[in-house]
Amino acid sequence: MAKIVGVVNSTHVPAIGGAIHKGMQQDPYWKPFFDGFPKVREWLARIKPDVAIVINNDHGLNFFLDKMPTFAIGAAPEYKNADEGWGIPVLPAFKGHEDLSWHLAESLIGDEFDMVTCQEMAVDHAFTLPLALLYPDMNWPLSVVPININTVLFPTPSAKRCFKFGQAIGRAVEAFDQDLRVLVIGTGGLSHQLEGTRAGFINKEFDLKFMDSLTSEPTWVTQYTDRELVKFAGTQGIELLNWLTARATMSGQVKELHRNYHIPISNTAAATLLLEPHA
Ligand code: DHB
Ligand code: FE
Repeated sequence: MAKIVGVVNSTHVPAIGGAIHKGMQQDPYWKPFFDGFPKVREWLARIKPDVAIVINNDHGLNFFLDKMPTFAIGAAPEYKNADEGWGIPVLPAFKGHEDLSWHLAESLIGDEFDMVTCQEMAVDHAFTLPLALLYPDMNWPLSVVPININTVLFPTPSAKRCFKFGQAIGRAVEAFDQDLRVLVIGTGGLSHQLEGTRAGFINKEFDLKFMDSLTSEPTWVTQYTDRELVKFAGTQGIELLNWLTARATMSGQVKELHRNYHIPISNTAAATLLLEPHA
């Protein structure tokens, strides 16, 4: 049977792609951020997941403002990165795990999450950069299933709904009849706002409380509406829904193995969190 071996949550700021390309990991601006990853890589080298379910939000490569699914899942043999216009290099394609994708789609739709199934799906910085931070040689050692949550255009799903969505993903994985070690990755966040009078808004107190809650009280953030989350975390800060969904795939107690929190990278409170199921 398939098993969730852990959750890695990571920020996905496009500028990270430029820093990797230019080899700026030791630059004083970047070092405190990149230093958050060696521990996660050591853990990955030990745990060796076979497949990653990557919970992220599309920023316009697949769905633009005219068509915005709340929940979408990739069911493709391969996922290509494409030029998004940030001037960051296009990264190598990812191999899809089609059987797991279709199993998840069937199980989630059976669980009343009406997924858009995508047999073609491009992946943007929200997908590629966390993977490049985890596997810097970009010789991807695992296959992938992308899941998109709309964190971009109102109406967005509530934190409460996303928590249930994550639980449903977790149940579906546990019921999958292949022996697979499944890593769940949640991307984006934490607090940031890219536009308007609050551009550059960051809320460290809220971010740290949210990070703590994922271990101690994972439903804490579900008390808030999306509008409240925008107020606390910024318009793009609600990408934390991806983190929450990823966390909710693990039922029961979890252990925090590692975290990093650094302000700012570009306009974003940059954070990394590694969680493992409690033995
Ligand atoms: C930035 C952050 C994001 O989450 C994103 O998708 C694009 C840009 C930023 O801080 O620059
Ligand atoms: Fe983003």
